[in-house]
Amino acid sequence: MNILVIGGGGREHAIIQKLKEDPRAETIYALPGNGGIAADAVCCPIAATDLPAIVSFAKDHAVDFAVVAPDDPLVLGAVDALSAEGILCFGPRKNAAAIEGSKVFAKNLMKRYGIPTAAYEAFSDMDKALAYVETCPLPTVVKADGLALGKGVLICGTREEARQAVRSMMEGRIFGESGANVVIEEFLTGPEVSALTFTDGEAIVPMVSSMDHKRALDGDQGLNTGGMGSVAPNPFYTAEVAERCMREIFLPTIRAMKQEGRPFQGCLYFGLMLTPDGPKVIEYNCRFGDPETQVALPLLESSLLEIMLASAKGTLAETEVKFSEKSACCVILASDGYPQKYEKGFLITLPETGENERIYIAGAAWKDGRLVTNGGRVLGASAVADALPDAVRAAYALADRIQFENAYCRRDIGQRALAALGGNG
Ligand code: AMP
Ligand code: GLY
Repeated sequence: MNILVIGGGGREHAIIQKLKEDPRAETIYALPGNGGIAADAVCCPIAATDLPAIVSFAKDHAVDFAVVAPDDPLVLGAVDALSAEGILCFGPRKNAAAIEGSKVFAKNLMKRYGIPTAAYEAFSDMDKALAYVETCPLPTVVKADGLALGKGVLICGTREEARQAVRSMMEGRIFGESGANVVIEEFLTGPEVSALTFTDGEAIVPMVSSMDHKRALDGDQGLNTGGMGSVAPNPFYTAEVAERCMREIFLPTIRAMKQEGRPFQGCLYFGLMLTPDGPKVIEYNCRFGDPETQVALPLLESSLLEIMLASAKGTLAETEVKFSEKSACCVILASDGYPQKYEKGFLITLPETGENERIYIAGAAWKDGRLVTNGGRVLGASAVADALPDAVRAAYALADRIQFENAYCRRDIGQRALAALGGNG
């Protein structure tokens, strides 16, 4: 079976490595992939958002199955475009990807179907939004409606900050058209959980839970990034919480999407906050998380290809989805200066990896026969072990064997989880 994976980050590298474990996988193509992914797939420099070029590539290369991983091609309708040519796809169609593509849509869906989330108001008129922030409870959270590279969320402690957030999104368009509409919502507190699931539109099967570390610096300081590390499972996500999420959030969401005529097939990612009033949805993502995928997939014992095919064909209920009881940790090595300005082009030296270690390359390129840095998040060092403390130690031991100039990583990935486990790490 020839497989096409759209995207070119660490998440896609993890997906490709897992797909390769299934003997049915023949050639795997990655568009655009990256210099590191090139070790595992045939990469071609076609942008993940260039839908006409992707469709003709798939036809020319006899692709049997396509996996669309990033949010932007999903929201643009990559699955619709490939399906129209008869190519089986893993991922939601455009009308279902709106669950991430429009926060206003997602919030209204949750309200209509009684799915627990932060109280909110949505605005298309800036004056109304500005009037609202004069009286709303503080702190408050201002969110751009559309995709904004994970940066469209501003937590405002004062009314002046809230006014500025509204103006910069709706008038200044700091996030472009994504800020044409905004959601202003209640500030929630509690541990966060990334709950990734597989679904075929009817059945929904959770993956192992995980925890992301979004800020750039230790102690959750610094700017928001795409994610600086992750662990799985998330110790806050107990069996009891999981059961409640399935009943109050996962199944109601899948049924709501079906009811709306937008059946969701693919990976549905629930960004949850475990508040004193119970689990609530902070955000939906219509795709795998990055770097959550880099800890979830190393723990998957079943065939990812089989699960993805079942999601696409609607046979997930009959398909085995088994995760190991072990733990995983991923430490991201980034270019110094990320998420702002950083230099590229430094030589990357990779060590040999053991059976429980994986290196997932995100921002790297081949130049003159050498692998060099080519992005903010350069790679992820992932390790699996029987218990979380060992997985964290092993991921750092791996990260410390990888070398490139200007590398930086957080030194406290997993500490929040270890503290929750009672400090027995
Ligand atoms: P999002 O892009 O929606 O995941 O938001 C980014 C981050 O902002 C989340 O991971 C939370 O840490 C935080 N956040 C978003 N919405 C809220 C909220 N209503 N209350 C508190 N924190 C929030
Ligand atoms: N790690 C957060 C995300 O993928 O959106």
